[in-house]
Amino acid sequence: MLKGKHIILGITGSIAAYKSAVLCRLLVGAGAEVKVVMTPLAKQFITPLTMATLSKNPILVDFFNPENGEWNSHVKLGLWADCYLIAPATANTLAKMATGVADNLLLTTYLSARCPVAVAPAMDLDMYAHTATQRNLERLREDGVHIIAPAAGELASGLVGNGRMAEPQDIVAAVAELLAEKKKPTLTGKHFLVTAGATIEPIDPVRYISNHSSGKMGYAVAEELAERGAQVTLISGRTALTTPKGVERVDVLSAEEMYQACVERFEQTDGAVMCAAVADYTPQSVASEKIKKGEGDMAIALKRTRDIAAELGQRKGNRILVGFAMETQNEQANAEDKLRRKNFDFIVLNSLRVEGAGFRGDTNVVSLIDATGRKDLPLMSKREVAEHIVDKIEESL
Ligand code: C5P
Repeated sequence: MLKGKHIILGITGSIAAYKSAVLCRLLVGAGAEVKVVMTPLAKQFITPLTMATLSKNPILVDFFNPENGEWNSHVKLGLWADCYLIAPATANTLAKMATGVADNLLLTTYLSARCPVAVAPAMDLDMYAHTATQRNLERLREDGVHIIAPAAGELASGLVGNGRMAEPQDIVAAVAELLAEKKKPTLTGKHFLVTAGATIEPIDPVRYISNHSSGKMGYAVAEELAERGAQVTLISGRTALTTPKGVERVDVLSAEEMYQACVERFEQTDGAVMCAAVADYTPQSVASEKIKKGEGDMAIALKRTRDIAAELGQRKGNRILVGFAMETQNEQANAEDKLRRKNFDFIVLNSLRVEGAGFRGDTNVVSLIDATGRKDLPLMSKREVAEHIVDKIEESL
């Protein structure tokens, strides 16, 4: 997400500075190169040693090294950065930024930075709500600073309210969005259906049959299509994921509900990407009361579900239909058979034999198979896999 991006992480004197350590790790983990600038007071909240170790770079606090006079050039630092993130940002630092005060390295770097700047305020609820702070934030917003809003919750003072620094993973997501290169809207005017996640087949009011699908692959495809300007309807089984920006999400539970939701909408679309892990079998009948346990074993009678992809394949016309396959044996032959049987334009074959591929993780190893042949892709993030899939959809349009 942040591969190769240069990020200055500014830390100010707030209790929330303990979260900067996690934040720094997440930024580095996402592929960013991080240099940390601290205010003198910040050192009392988290040690330079911790931050230097996590960022893999020496910490910058003073304008120059008093031992040898080496100059910490805020101008060079400002030019180096793709993003300047100040987290936590205290009321004091926000006030100084709003008025252009330049009495420490963190602030002079702010004035020199030509890159996007983001701040994650952290303070007590009354300080945050104060008109002075709100005025300063408004001014910073007008100056083009991106404010990562604090959340409501328990504060270091013991009070509960607004002012808690946003969680590190949310800050990383905000930075990633800020730096995301805007994609060309190559799919404007097109409408796609995407299925994702696991279906849930109820046995009785409390039990069900499901599978390990996280929905990540389908959500990544939906997000990629939307970023390229397409209208996207995401028919989602159970997942713990948040709806990608600009995507219409329809929640369903069972394979039958997913079938209905897809068949109803397919005609109005330009195509569908079938990422969902749909149950092949569902209980013949759903008990209306919780099934009591008895002494012996029990069996549940199952019946076949309807194949959504195959049904859409029948109604395809000149729409695009993309399927997924997860095979444990004869993968090529089975994928080719599925391609024909379900009338897919191409199929994404998940390799289950390679480490880093499959259900829950953020990476995948896939091959794209169409009538003309097979292309093996190396290990990459599910988001990158989604880019390849959508590139191929564009080629087929
Ligand atoms: O036949 P198999 O389940 O392996 O096919 C996988 C592909 O078919 C996936 O794209 C999956 O989303 C889709 N599928 C479906 N409805 C089903 C079963 C599978 O849409 N009932």
